[in-house]
Amino acid sequence: MKSLVIEGGNPLSGTVSISGAKNAALPACVASLLTEDPVILHSIPQLRDVSTILYTLGALGKRVVRHDANVSIAAGGSLISEANAYSVSQMRASFLVLGPLVARLGKAVVPLPGGCAIGARPVDLHLEGLRALGARVEERNGMVVVTADRLTGGTIHLPFPSVGATEQIAMAACLAEGQTVIHNAAIEPEVIDLIELLGKMGADISVTDRTIRVMGKRSLGGAEHMLIPDRMEAGTILLAGAITRGRVSVSPVRPQHLDAFLNSLRATGVELELGEMSITATGITRPTAIKLDTAPYPGFPTDLHPPLAAFLSIADGTSKITESVFERRFAYSVPLCKMGARIVQDGATISIQGIDELTGQQVDAPDIRGGAALVLAGLAARGRTVVTGLDHIDRGHANLESKLRAIGARIERREDDS
Ligand code: UD1
Repeated sequence: MKSLVIEGGNPLSGTVSISGAKNAALPACVASLLTEDPVILHSIPQLRDVSTILYTLGALGKRVVRHDANVSIAAGGSLISEANAYSVSQMRASFLVLGPLVARLGKAVVPLPGGCAIGARPVDLHLEGLRALGARVEERNGMVVVTADRLTGGTIHLPFPSVGATEQIAMAACLAEGQTVIHNAAIEPEVIDLIELLGKMGADISVTDRTIRVMGKRSLGGAEHMLIPDRMEAGTILLAGAITRGRVSVSPVRPQHLDAFLNSLRATGVELELGEMSITATGITRPTAIKLDTAPYPGFPTDLHPPLAAFLSIADGTSKITESVFERRFAYSVPLCKMGARIVQDGATISIQGIDELTGQQVDAPDIRGGAALVLAGLAARGRTVVTGLDHIDRGHANLESKLRAIGARIERREDDS
């Protein structure tokens, strides 16, 4: 069994280079389906989820050439309308191919998605959005079949600003006839990065507050684009520094993308220095307990809730986190409690009663961000922590252990857990 073996208690110190954002890379790769011309992306993170989406695109007929952090996605043979069942079952973001495929080919067949077990995660908003663009949507034996002669612009009011649904509808609308307006759209930096890429590809697309307007075009062209830095990776590494009472810098990062997170970190007493493209966090003897709610951007990001909870488990006082985005984000709390944390869940809120010190244990990562939380806990704990379930961690964190080792963490990857 693969595991990360961590000897805790070492303050981390140094600078970590932040990879391109996973959640920007996945839709950007999918956007290549909207054109025959090459889409060239830079700062692609070395992650399993990225390999999965590139494999999906290859199976759909795209020619994918990847060199380190750069990828070119161009026309291969002819595009096919049916997505590979295995890759969509592995990762929810593969479902994004639905809109671009139906926009290009008039038909798309995509299995219902898989991904992290952090909640029900339905796709009703994606499908409602495509229906509003005139598509016929049917479900047959676990497959979603969407057809349309040509999509037509429509007005959509999302009941919740879903990131995936916003990206799905915005991409499809780029090739629809006429204007599409998406109200209450997600405006996460990764969504805005996708919109910037679509603009470079020739789309007529704009965002004002939470409204996205797209004037459809017959075709889009190729583009070259540098992805934004991963704000979730940056936040996780800053917390690794803070939980070990070290001093860690991350770069490149856009501090404004992490405003809500940085405000919470400051409230715990962590000292922050912000540069134009860097952040330095200096840990303190004991963080102060805080209260926060996760929320769509610009609120506190749900993906940083588990790593922050690990940090708050050693705070002075009782912290409360209310999770407003995903109902099953709390799976990390069971293994964290095994390490000594005192966490009580009441509906969508957890109370974390801070303790002096966590204790090393063998724990299993429940999902991508929950896995990161356990690694952070291990860095701070007394003794040895063994984290299994690395498949989850590897989906979303590029070279996590080598980045942590470079700033002083005693962390090793092993093929067995002896
Ligand atoms: C994306 C991110 C993920 C992040 C999340 C919220 C990617 C690849 N993943 O996921 O890391 O945690 O945004 O910031 O970008 N919902 C519905 N119906 C739908 C779609 C969503 O009810 O059709 C619900 C979901 O169950 C969830 C909430 O809306 O409770 C948010 O989901 P959404 O914003 O769509 O997240 P993802 O795009 O899946």
